[in-house]
Amino acid sequence: MNDALGSVQSALVIGGSSDIGVATARALAGRGCRRIVLAGRDPDAMRARLPSIHDAGAAETDVVPFDALDTDSHESFVEDVFGRHHDFDVVLVAFGVLGDQAKAESDGAAAVHVAMVNYVGAMSVMVAAAKALRRQGHGVLVVLSSVAGERARRSNFVYGSSKAGIDAFAQGLADSMVGTGARVMVVRPGFVKSKMTEGEEPAPLATTPEAVAEAIVGGLGSGATTVWVPSKMRWVMSALRHLPRPVFRRLPI
Ligand SMILES: NC(=O)c1ccc[n+]([C@@H]2O[C@H](COP(=O)([O-])OP(=O)(O)OC[C@H]3O[C@@H](n4cnc5c(N)ncnc54)[C@H](OP(=O)(O)O)[C@@H]3O)[C@@H](O)[C@H]2O)c1
Repeated sequence: MNDALGSVQSALVIGGSSDIGVATARALAGRGCRRIVLAGRDPDAMRARLPSIHDAGAAETDVVPFDALDTDSHESFVEDVFGRHHDFDVVLVAFGVLGDQAKAESDGAAAVHVAMVNYVGAMSVMVAAAKALRRQGHGVLVVLSSVAGERARRSNFVYGSSKAGIDAFAQGLADSMVGTGARVMVVRPGFVKSKMTEGEEPAPLATTPEAVAEAIVGGLGSGATTVWVPSKMRWVMSALRHLPRPVFRRLPI
């Protein structure tokens, strides 16, 4: 449970080898978070990230298996990890795949894979995590959405549509949790220089996993429901969202 000053004491990062997830774990550890659990597919990759989280200040860490595609296991995964670690102030849903847009436009299985990880997998584990947070009566479920979900663009609409879906789900879930003591925070970064975007030309207003982590910590402290990173992305996307379709189609995006 948050300490007397409201600081996060425990966090579960689902997608525990994600650059943004690990940067957030480090940022939370640096603000007094004592217990951090990383959940993901690759235990060795997650264990390799633990020393930096300890160095940032976490006293207790753990690594647990989780696969977004194995939706049948999500309820027991959440029950086990909450049972073993008792309580979490923050559950961060940080896994995701960018996919190959060109391939996904002609290969249904490739498009479905993106939707299964980013939308179906995230929705599935969020249902289970929300249940656990409601039961404990406190905690924040943080989900990494994306500006790509705000208006699907020609260049990455498969990924964008999966993020639009999980963003809408998270907003509804947030409304459903009012009055339970627990809440949901939606994070919408722009282009982040991470493993996911390695080799790609950074987009305007490109940011870093550390900047996203700081924005998440800030949002947790202020009680935000939505966090844009960088914050001016909110206004950029608001303008893009309302552009008439014929104008939008002429943009090189
Ligand atoms: N980078 C950006 O520009 C950007 C912008 C906006 C939003 N986001 C979102 O932020 C989140 C974190 O992204 P990132 O930038 O930190 O990228 P990242 O470092 O590539 O992290 C993505 C994570 O997703 C995990 N993952 C993929 N498929 C999975 C599966 N089936 N089950 C469990 N885990 C799986 C990967 O695990 P493995 O190590 O096992 O592959 C990896 O840890 C994602 O949701 C992403 O969509 C990213």
